[in-house]
Amino acid sequence: MKKVRKAVIPVAGMGTRFLPVTKSVPKEILPIIDKPTLQYIVEECVESGIEEILFITSPYKRNIEDHFDQSFELESRLAKNNKLKELEMVQNISKMCKIYYIRQGEPLGSGHAIKLAKSFIGDEPFAVLYGDDLMKSSTNKPVLKQLIDVYEKYDCNVIGVQEVDPSLVYKYGIIEFEKDDKIKSIVEKPNVEAAPSNFAGLGRYIVKPEIFLELDNLSQGKGNEYQFTDGMLNLMQKQDFYACKFKGTYYDIGNQLGYIKANIAFALERDDLKDDLKSYINNLIK
Ligand code: UTP
Repeated sequence: MKKVRKAVIPVAGMGTRFLPVTKSVPKEILPIIDKPTLQYIVEECVESGIEEILFITSPYKRNIEDHFDQSFELESRLAKNNKLKELEMVQNISKMCKIYYIRQGEPLGSGHAIKLAKSFIGDEPFAVLYGDDLMKSSTNKPVLKQLIDVYEKYDCNVIGVQEVDPSLVYKYGIIEFEKDDKIKSIVEKPNVEAAPSNFAGLGRYIVKPEIFLELDNLSQGKGNEYQFTDGMLNLMQKQDFYACKFKGTYYDIGNQLGYIKANIAFALERDDLKDDLKSYINNLIK
């Protein structure tokens, strides 16, 4: 079985749900407290054993490249001012992992974006992490590593899933199970009566390279976009897919409430912030 060494992170979407800020700032670079969402996601990759990452980016998202690059002027100033802790923090960002970029000329959908990774991936299984889906693991294993464990157990494609409130199934790709954790199908945004379960696929995947044959032959789906889920549905006719019911919390930072929740949850775990934040919130809601 081939090891999962590479990850693809699509970040070329329009971010329309988070306008107006996304007019000039990519949602994926918005900070959760003081660290961009994407940095948490890259750290999740590195801690899961990923060696190379490809960002599918766009002409409007240059500051993503800037964030993960060396910053000569900032680094020399920090060194000159003897701010060694900050210097180390900044230098570590550009040393974390080998990162590559390719541009999606037009945001034609997640399936179209991921298809652009074909020559980078070659003949290997790989991880896909959506750049606006932030995961906070509740164990010492990052969420992506939990998916890789399922891949290594069954030699299969894997989708990260979690239960969602039945009233919210209409927002997600809902999993239809065949038996135990084996997936039969995904029903895109069903109403509650038509939903085959209340487990949703949530922004973390391991797929085998045969996915590219399906992405090459994809037709436009929901919203006239090429949907990655449709590519996976076609591959499901030929290969096994298993669900990884991961342990952790999922935040969709591409919408306002998800973004606010992530900031509060992460701040409540920081020794320098949690006490002041708790008393502030308590006063606010009194
Ligand atoms: P989303 O559907 O959540 O992002 O895609 P979006 O299209 O930016 O969202 P809205 O509806 O306009 O607010 C999941 C991930 O896939 C990327 C996005 O940047 C996001 O990280 N994506 C989406 C692409 O790279 N290219 C696309 O054509 C679409």
